[in-house]
Amino acid sequence: MDFIDLRPEDLTTVTSAVELVNAAQAVDSPWEHSTTVVGMVGRMRYGWDLEPGRRLAGVVDGRVVTLGVVETSEWDNLDLAWLGVTVHPDARRRGHGTGMLERLVAMATEMGRPKLGTDAWDGTPGVPFAEKHGFVKKSQAINRRQHLAEVAFDRVEKLHDEARTAAAAYELVRVLGRTPDDLLPAVAEMSASINDAPLDDLEIEDENFAPERIRNYETAQLSRGQRLYRLVARHRETGALAGHTVVAVEEERPTIGDQHDTSVVADHRGHRLGLFLKSGMNLWLREAEPQLETIDTWNAESNDRMIGVNEELGYRAMGRVLEFQRTA
Ligand SMILES: CC(C)(COP(=O)(O)OP(=O)(O)OC[C@H]1O[C@@H](n2cnc3c(N)ncnc32)[C@H](O)[C@@H]1OP(=O)(O)O)[C@@H](O)C(=O)NCCC(=O)NCCS
Repeated sequence: MDFIDLRPEDLTTVTSAVELVNAAQAVDSPWEHSTTVVGMVGRMRYGWDLEPGRRLAGVVDGRVVTLGVVETSEWDNLDLAWLGVTVHPDARRRGHGTGMLERLVAMATEMGRPKLGTDAWDGTPGVPFAEKHGFVKKSQAINRRQHLAEVAFDRVEKLHDEARTAAAAYELVRVLGRTPDDLLPAVAEMSASINDAPLDDLEIEDENFAPERIRNYETAQLSRGQRLYRLVARHRETGALAGHTVVAVEEERPTIGDQHDTSVVADHRGHRLGLFLKSGMNLWLREAEPQLETIDTWNAESNDRMIGVNEELGYRAMGRVLEFQRTA
């Protein structure tokens, strides 16, 4: 197998990689929204927050049969690399996955990152593959989806009104796109409360949420053609930011929404702010993005609080991802 460093300018190879990812999704996780060339190029240029990682295409007889990804951060977890291997369904069980994984492990080692992580959908070949290569399961997360055509908005309004009563000390502030400069330090501080979300046995350090990184996240998402909606709960008396929720809507396919972080700062928990924020986001998006059809969210399976809120709003489980770790 030949390895090609995948570059966003190389649209021929990128297009082959997109076809490969979509063929794999069709067999492993058919409910997932397909990947587009625009989406892949955006991810390759900007990543989640301007740390796009590196991608390799594995080519056999002139055909891209496998895609490998190494993701790392310079903000925290400096010893960790998260690896991804996808093999075209027509080319599996021929050792290509193993060949790509070995190459990625070598790259991580060269980068001085001995802690490795990877993930796979439960019940798919990725699980025995990861186990065969010495990875141990550390956590499991559920992908849930809210189908907006099924949502009874009168119920969402009722839940929102009930939550507003419990959260009377707080007001909601809508931030479209970039966070204003004067709010950025407080948004960054509040964002760090996502570190309280359960990690189960994953060996991952707390993430660093410097204001510059929040800005990088917004720049990356907007550059990728995501419209960003952030709803913030502010304590009326002190002005303290108590919690927030963020949803991104794809410009290319504006029926697709993706839930990013939701968190409530520890001192402000117990006032139904989670439900107040998430129902408030549904009501905002109904006005601002009436064509939206779905919102996807991810939670550790052990995150009872957040899952409880999501289920009240009609989110349904689509699939379970297992997360694995090992050392190089
Ligand atoms: C997981 C995946 C990468 C494996 O690719 P592959 O090229 O088929 O893997 P290999 O041929 O190198 O398989 C190596 C070993 O993994 C295990 N394995 C792979 N697929 C398996 C399956 N369907 N059932 C049981 N064991 C399997 C076997 O031990 C296999 O060795 P063997 O063929 O000698 O028995 C591929 O199925 C895929 O792309 N899945 C979707 C993405 C994914 O889940 N990636 C996992 C990231 S860790």
